[in-house]
Amino acid sequence: MSKVFVFDAPAGLYNVVADHVTRLAQEAVAERGRFLLCLSGGNTPRPLYKQLALPPWREQMPWRACHILWGDERLVPPDDRESNYRLAQVALLAQVPIPAGNIYRMRGELEPEAAVADYTQQLAALTEPGQPWPRLDLALMGIGSDGHTASLFPGSSEPSGVAVIATVANDPKRPAQRITLTSAMLNSSREVIFLVRGEEKAEPLATILQGDQDPLRWPAQRIRPESGRLVWYVDQPAASRLDLSLINE
Ligand code: 6PG
Repeated sequence: MSKVFVFDAPAGLYNVVADHVTRLAQEAVAERGRFLLCLSGGNTPRPLYKQLALPPWREQMPWRACHILWGDERLVPPDDRESNYRLAQVALLAQVPIPAGNIYRMRGELEPEAAVADYTQQLAALTEPGQPWPRLDLALMGIGSDGHTASLFPGSSEPSGVAVIATVANDPKRPAQRITLTSAMLNSSREVIFLVRGEEKAEPLATILQGDQDPLRWPAQRIRPESGRLVWYVDQPAASRLDLSLINE
């Protein structure tokens, strides 16, 4: 089940998403004693990360019980301007009282296979007995204008039964070598939120939500939580080609 919410103003969108994240965090900690939050990279989530470090969200978030993971990472050092870790560290994590041991950084300084093995090992520490990988409480995601999500790119296949793989981006503007969570792990999340803004996302978003199913070509279509919720928070320009009566039925 997925739901699309459209916003005219960015401030309204980020306020609602910050409230959503905080509510999920409080519920998760009350029920299970921890909140597994998986962050995405790119430009769209940056204002949200900054907002979560500000009142009232800063005080509402149960930071000491939050565990931070990433959906993907560029294989660059953690202080590189292209690092998804650096993005979150500067905008949010350095500003809030989250224990350093609760931050599960994808080690972009490693070679691809070593980075995959390292993160697979890190995930094991969070995995419940009998489960293949940790069940995320919330995965924040975005889409590229080519329809990718995390670092799952068009035409890329995914081996079954694994949580983390190495991939190569075909976007000359961003680092090529990546590691990414697989759609299988992402689909075990309790909740997935897509944040999508901008006119350049209107056509891919309409194809992803209203077009024919072709998850090989449109990796964001692979994200369909088995028993979790899927919510799209979209600004007006990105939503300009959507027929919401069809989607939010
Ligand atoms: C990354 C992200 C990626 C991102 C999209 C959208 O590493 O780049 O994880 O999947 O969500 O590329 O990026 P923008 O928000 O910058 O448009």
